[in-house]
Amino acid sequence: MRVHVADHPLITHKLTVLRDVNTPSPIFRALVEEIMTLLAYEGTRGVRVEPVDIVTPVAPTTGVRIADPKPLIVPILRAGLGMLDGMVKLLPSAEVGFLGMARNEETLEPTTYAERLPEDLSDRQCFVLDPMLATGGSLTAAIEFLLARGATDVTAICILAAPEGLKAVEEALHGREVTVVLGAVDERLNERGYIVPGLGDAGDRLYGTV
Ligand code: PRP
Ligand code: URA
Repeated sequence: MRVHVADHPLITHKLTVLRDVNTPSPIFRALVEEIMTLLAYEGTRGVRVEPVDIVTPVAPTTGVRIADPKPLIVPILRAGLGMLDGMVKLLPSAEVGFLGMARNEETLEPTTYAERLPEDLSDRQCFVLDPMLATGGSLTAAIEFLLARGATDVTAICILAAPEGLKAVEEALHGREVTVVLGAVDERLNERGYIVPGLGDAGDRLYGTV
């Protein structure tokens, strides 16, 4: 598994406002989208392209376009939905599938409650979006779901990770073709499985408490 932490000052600046408990939901939502667009630039470095012949006003030339089959973006509901627009801005020709997962706040185990994905993902480049990689249970389950459908090339883009969770994902997916792109790796998990210092409950800060 490859891990890339995008420690760009603009990302760290926006992350600081995102973490602030006084940042209201509308600004939080806008920042998640902006940070996603910045992370997408790094996360799509390996997106598959194919050559295309064009003619400029001056001369014929060869460029590239996003290859077929188009990449598949998979936001993990709920919180990953907040990252979708920021990703689609950079990759408008991609298709979008959905995975709904919720972590049991007592056991910290994830359950999958919704799925809308192609049956066959062989040869598809998949980009999984989830702002928080805490224990790593949700991201591991999501990536294993895609690998079981035949995906061979998966990139996960998360805003924050805990070192314990990152290690757990790495161990679970050892030897698989997976890349994880992160905005920051924080200090640790607390006893309730929250990232410290983190930003709290990403889903609640985006969409309110359910
Ligand atoms: C959050 C987050 C991840 C998960 C991370 O979702 O968006 O999916 O927790 O925790 P883990 O690494 O310990 O599995 P949550 O289950 O709270 O659902 P929500 O997005 O609907 O709020
Ligand atoms: N889910 C969140 O939204 N935040 C955390 O810190 C951990 C899991």
